[in-house]
Amino acid sequence: MSDKKSDKSADNPVAKQTSMEDIVSLCKRRGFIYPGSDVYGGLSGTWDYGPLGVALKRNIMNLWWKTFVDDRDDMYGVDAAILMNQKVWQASGHVDTFTDPLVECSNCKSRFRADHLEGDKCPTCGKTGTFSEPRQFNMMFRTVVGPVKLDPEISFPNNTSAVIKDHNYTYNVDWSSEKPEVKANSNDEVALSTSYLRPETAQGIFTNFKNVVDSFYPDLPFGIAQQGKAFRNEISPRDFVFRSREFEQMEVEYFVSPDGWEKEFDKWVSDIYAFLQQLGLNKQKVHELEVPAEDRAHYSKRTIDFEYDFPHKRDELLGLAYRTDFDLKNIERESKKSMEYRPKDGSKAFVPHVIEPSFGVERAIIAVLDAAYTEDEVNGEKRNYLKLPAHLAPVKVAVSPLLKNKKELSDKAHEVYKMLKKEFGAVMWDDNGNVGKRYRRQDEIGTPYCVTIDFDTLEDDTVTLRDRDTTKQTRVKISELIQELK
Ligand code: GAP
Repeated sequence: MSDKKSDKSADNPVAKQTSMEDIVSLCKRRGFIYPGSDVYGGLSGTWDYGPLGVALKRNIMNLWWKTFVDDRDDMYGVDAAILMNQKVWQASGHVDTFTDPLVECSNCKSRFRADHLEGDKCPTCGKTGTFSEPRQFNMMFRTVVGPVKLDPEISFPNNTSAVIKDHNYTYNVDWSSEKPEVKANSNDEVALSTSYLRPETAQGIFTNFKNVVDSFYPDLPFGIAQQGKAFRNEISPRDFVFRSREFEQMEVEYFVSPDGWEKEFDKWVSDIYAFLQQLGLNKQKVHELEVPAEDRAHYSKRTIDFEYDFPHKRDELLGLAYRTDFDLKNIERESKKSMEYRPKDGSKAFVPHVIEPSFGVERAIIAVLDAAYTEDEVNGEKRNYLKLPAHLAPVKVAVSPLLKNKKELSDKAHEVYKMLKKEFGAVMWDDNGNVGKRYRRQDEIGTPYCVTIDFDTLEDDTVTLRDRDTTKQTRVKISELIQELK
């Protein structure tokens, strides 16, 4: 590669704290993430991914899968159904304890998560001393499986029966009362057909533990990994996708012998850091919070929250928990099936313990965008760009003809575009506006390289290759372009 121009080089990177507004605005404007059901005024706590968002999300999820499943030989992947037998959630403790404390303002009727409030002033109406006593609000979305005939006399809490008709689709009742459950041990059809949108992917792993052991008989320790949607009826979703009602998780349940869990836990700490580095996060913005016993989830004997300095505040990015044998023992008790693992050396069978690294995709996305969001000056002009690691960028390379209306340039550019698209897939055609504007647009979405076909190309089969970070432009032979971009 030979230098052609360096007059546009980037200078003076400005150290700037990215704001959530910067990220939200970029995401909406450039097609990463839109508010869910936007055209109908939205649905709180839901978000839709646009073309660039879905590419970024997949790149993060694929990187995770490659790192924690494909590149290891102690890991097995599963993809369990989201809807599961209600016994899963009774056994796991979610039906009884997956709650957040809810308070209501007696003046404006707004509802809040008690542990997220500062002081006793209502954030909506400004009155003080108007909050009710906290009560436990279960965060699971409930649904009914099958074309269940609802008994009009059935007594739901808070008189919700009035609005429930025969149907066979998902619904949710107001769970804010003390005992919102329709008793599952009663004989009515609704109770027996009740299911939940899973609030964590983990249970789909635990319930397949025995299946995977029977099919593969892996050596201990080994892990089962799953990625997929999780749903929580958050009292107050907020901070963009950080706290949503529908989100994606990437979880591993790593089965270990109870004697050696500390060593495996420590290994996971370093594996997590290695992954966060691949996401391009600055280690100085990642902090470990040793969660005190009173704040840990009901199943955990040790938890480290990996916090990140998000634009809104330092907050949880992912969790690493030692779940003991809590889940497998619960399954054993409720299903009456053994969850024991028989060691290959013939020693006594036992129920394995579990280390659980649990990643949220949405939080990873905000952290990645925060880390990548960069402001600098190019030739005295301010520039915003996403300094994404190339393996995460939604578009790997953009291809343009120097002039849109010159057929020879356009034809040649299409040839190059097709060649690169076949090789890399995520290649964008861009012939809108002048070349400077195209570069800025691609910078803003984090495209590492732009290829421009100009009049020299027609003479010598070379193109201009422009680097996002340095803005340097070099001439490259078309025949060497793929190799150069790899
Ligand atoms: N299986 C363990 C578990 O689900 P968690 O701490 O409740 O643990 C794990 O959730 C991760 O899932 C969190 O660290 C976060 O990244 C993500 N997460 C949890 N609730 C979320 C929400 N409402 N919106 C977006 N991400 C969420």
